[in-house]
Amino acid sequence: MKVLITGGAGYVGSFILNELSKDYELLVLDSLEEGHKWAVGNHKLVVGDIANEKILYDIYENFKPDIIIHCAAYIVAPESVENPFKYYENNFYKALKMLKFFLDRNLKFFIFSSTAAVYGNPKIIPVDENHPIEPLNPYGWSKFFFERAIMDLKNKYNFEYVILRYFNAAGASLDSKLGQYKKQPTHLISRIVRTILGFYEKLYIYGKDYSTKDGTAIRDYIHILDLARLHRLALEYLLETKQSNIFNLGYGKGYSVLEVVELANKILKPFKYEFTERRLGDPEVLICDNRKIKSILKFEPKYDDLELILKTAYNWEVYRINSGIQ
Ligand SMILES: NC(=O)c1ccc[n+]([C@@H]2O[C@H](COP(=O)([O-])OP(=O)(O)OC[C@H]3O[C@@H](n4cnc5c(N)ncnc54)[C@H](O)[C@@H]3O)[C@@H](O)[C@H]2O)c1
Repeated sequence: MKVLITGGAGYVGSFILNELSKDYELLVLDSLEEGHKWAVGNHKLVVGDIANEKILYDIYENFKPDIIIHCAAYIVAPESVENPFKYYENNFYKALKMLKFFLDRNLKFFIFSSTAAVYGNPKIIPVDENHPIEPLNPYGWSKFFFERAIMDLKNKYNFEYVILRYFNAAGASLDSKLGQYKKQPTHLISRIVRTILGFYEKLYIYGKDYSTKDGTAIRDYIHILDLARLHRLALEYLLETKQSNIFNLGYGKGYSVLEVVELANKILKPFKYEFTERRLGDPEVLICDNRKIKSILKFEPKYDDLELILKTAYNWEVYRINSGIQ
């Protein structure tokens, strides 16, 4: 079974590669704009844009994927507020072009990395898959537009899809040798780790006036290894049932930014932090209702442990710096 992973040189994609490598024939398509060659290891990599027809044609001729896992996207919500075109073009328009290219050539299975950002500010917590769609920023809309297009294309083409709406992916491999790397990280845990390691003088916490227990925003952090395994479960589900579906991926537990910061201060190393203004387009609380992945995909979390998430993220960053990886 041949699987094409777009964005496979990025954080999530590289873990999906490792998860699937023993059982599937894999090919990565990544522009390397945000991804890294080292993250792909010995797997096959085509460097290029998902909307480059010549590249898509070559992949079709030489690989003919049975399944596509589409992770490639821009992912920085505040940036999408500043530059919406960039997000609509890449996450919606280019993704649509790529999907149509393969559907026109009889693709049967498609898995899409979507996001809990499609829900906006939740009206009901925890958030299940039927929660209303009301993104707060162009990033969330661009991901939802593509979801909608997938659903509509299914009426015309004979294929099945799974849409996975991730909550916050975090952490790194247990041996510390693979993790997230961005030159300018925007995710909380990467920024904490960088602050501890002296990249920043202090950590800024965006907003302390949310109506949460301590005034900071609440998120559901899922360890990247569990998130990657959920792709295997989703893939198996798709191949076995040949049914389309949508799943939220998270642990069903929320931690406030301040709780994460205080825990990191205690178990990693002390660092300075300061409160500042809220960021544009940040929802107040995002906690996943994960009953559907537990009942249908039979998901049992293995790494549901914030300390482990923080420690693996920290150990990876130390390893990365010491090994000169960038
Ligand atoms: N990291 C999270 O917490 C999180 C949460 C929710 C959803 N997601 C979704 O998961 C997916 C992967 O996120 P990530 O954290 O691994 O991000 P990432 O930036 O590490 O990886 C994305 C990869 O896609 C590649 N890419 C982007 N546009 C491309 C294009 N036009 N052509 C070819 N390659 C392109 C980048 O080079 C990068 O390697 C995204 O679709 C994102 O929306 C991530």
